Amino acid sequence: MARFKFRCGRGDAMIQLHDVCKSFMQGDESVFALTQISLHVKRGECVVLKGNSGSGKSTLLSLIAGLAQPNSGEVSVDGREISKLPEQFSAKLRRQKIGFIFQKFHLIPHLTALENVITPLIPENLALSLLDEKAKTSMEQCGIAHKAQMRVNRLSGGEQQRVAIARALVNNPLLILADEPTANLDENLSRELIAQFERLKRQGITQLIATHDPLFFELGFVDRIIEIKNGELV
Ligand SMILES: Nc1ncnc2c1ncn2[C@@H]1O[C@H](COP(=O)(O)OP(=O)(O)OP(=O)(O)O)[C@@H](O)[C@H]1O
Ligand SMILES: [Mg+2]
Repeated sequence: MARFKFRCGRGDAMIQLHDVCKSFMQGDESVFALTQISLHVKRGECVVLKGNSGSGKSTLLSLIAGLAQPNSGEVSVDGREISKLPEQFSAKLRRQKIGFIFQKFHLIPHLTALENVITPLIPENLALSLLDEKAKTSMEQCGIAHKAQMRVNRLSGGEQQRVAIARALVNNPLLILADEPTANLDENLSRELIAQFERLKRQGITQLIATHDPLFFELGFVDRIIEIKNGELV
């Protein structure tokens, strides 16, 4: 009975934001990057986030991932208020449930592609052979397994992007947050990657994707487009 109540309480939302504001210091001034954002993304939904450069897309994704905290308002993921969790718990929630594809990749340059993909799995204390197998499977799905032993600082931008995507997917996340994931890929690679997002959607994975790439709309799996302008949802 208690469990039933808990489930009802979580509702159908994978992402829930209520009146979220985020400002940054620019010189002596505090400038708002996000103003009173409220957003509800259902489990299994695929939502595209559009907006001009500087409108607040990356800031919004980093708040949802618990990588930054709002000045005010609430951010919940899978029923847990990630914006109020101490860092060790938000890191755990992120590791176990969220796959984040960063706009600037954030790979560790002196490690190989395979080692980068393995990093989110390290705290899980898995056998080395299982780590290797999971990372290789994810790299194969992203078409980058042939570069497994290369140091990432020797890879092209598109190859680094595919390593970053393989790393985001290696934990089988419930939620994918992707920041311009096709920005460095040519059209063929973009199509392959988008087909992968479509497969993830069929598996019930929730996705919030910041993108301007029209190819995302060809396969018809995007449920909704939301637009952000000067830090406000329109
Ligand atoms: N750490 C920071 N310190 C100061 N200002 C910041 C910081 N991060 C973001 N901003 C500001 O917040 C606003 C939103 O930035 P954000 O990176 O979220 O935009 P974006 O929509 O992702 O842009 P782009 O399409 O160019 O990636 C910008 O004006 C930016 O200068
Ligand atoms: Mg951005």
